[in-house]
Amino acid sequence: MKLVEKIKEPILTEMELFEYKFKEAMISKVPLLNRITHYIVRRKGKQMRPMFVFLVAKMVSEGNFDERTYRGAAIIELIHTATLVHDDVVDDSNRRRGFFSINALWKNKIAVLVGDFLLSKGLLLSIDNNDFDILKLISVAVREMSEGELLQIEKARKLDITEAVYFEIIRQKTATLIAACCGIGAASVGCKDEEIEKMRLFGELIGIAFQIKDDLFDYTDDKIGKPTGIDIKEQKMTLPLIYALNNCTDKEKKWLINSVKNHNRNKTRVKEVIAFVKEKGGIEYTTSKMKEYQVKALELLNSYPNSPYKESLLTMVNYVIERKK
Ligand code: IPE
Ligand code: IPE
Ligand code: MG
Ligand code: MG
Repeated sequence: MKLVEKIKEPILTEMELFEYKFKEAMISKVPLLNRITHYIVRRKGKQMRPMFVFLVAKMVSEGNFDERTYRGAAIIELIHTATLVHDDVVDDSNRRRGFFSINALWKNKIAVLVGDFLLSKGLLLSIDNNDFDILKLISVAVREMSEGELLQIEKARKLDITEAVYFEIIRQKTATLIAACCGIGAASVGCKDEEIEKMRLFGELIGIAFQIKDDLFDYTDDKIGKPTGIDIKEQKMTLPLIYALNNCTDKEKKWLINSVKNHNRNKTRVKEVIAFVKEKGGIEYTTSKMKEYQVKALELLNSYPNSPYKESLLTMVNYVIERKK
């Protein structure tokens, strides 16, 4: 059985119901919008975030939960989808989930507005149901994601990123939403603040590992359904490159920075940079950092009694590292 199927086993009914509710939540009176959201739902992603919501909710509540958890999962996926639509505009990327991105098909103007629509739909789903605790968790994540993206752009312009700043960027742009998934899972079943915070931390740790994995994909030719090798083109310096910069001669450093700054659209030069980073051990170092976060996340689950949900969460943590897309 595939790893994902194994993870989903204890939450199959929930995931099915979720998909229905997620679709419902996107409906609009505007025909163009409906055509686009229809397109989005047909090319669904891995749906890891709703899986985190359900698994955490079930693990901490021993299996019973209600509509609040479903709403939490739908909100998260709506916000996630909104940020992907916007991200492809920001990154000028034309592929997503193995097909054309929204901006590639409908242009930036429409993609920006569709993203805003999905974001507002997510927030309203909480407001309309008085889920203000969930709304708070999600709003913090939305704020941090924008801050993370902007910090990333600032660093891409100045090319002065350090390892610490890299971790702060990925915590904000990616891990904060996965932290919200796990926090919302716990909050939706009425956990106390302390436990919500613990689950948030779990999500944050695995979210950091998740983005490191995403950044590692960029150094491969793997078919992951979106472009690889584009980070350098976008002057996005991720951990493998930062490591290489910190572990080379001044002359090599000059060449690296000059490549990213002035030759980032030259494919041969970018290939040379990638080869250099690999030669310096950037991939191994980055992989070991990713595993550190994986181990910390796994440790946080130790205090919970064994259950199929906990088992799935443990598998999920490993899936984040081993996934092929
Ligand atoms: C992509 O997230 C955005 C990142 C944070 C790297 P996913 O890889 O979970 O995207 P989908 O939903 O499966 O397409
Ligand atoms: C991921 O950004 C985080 C968000 C979508 C906010 P990236 O730009 O690194 O992700 P991909 O690789 O396009 O999915
Ligand atoms: Mg981006
Ligand atoms: Mg992107």
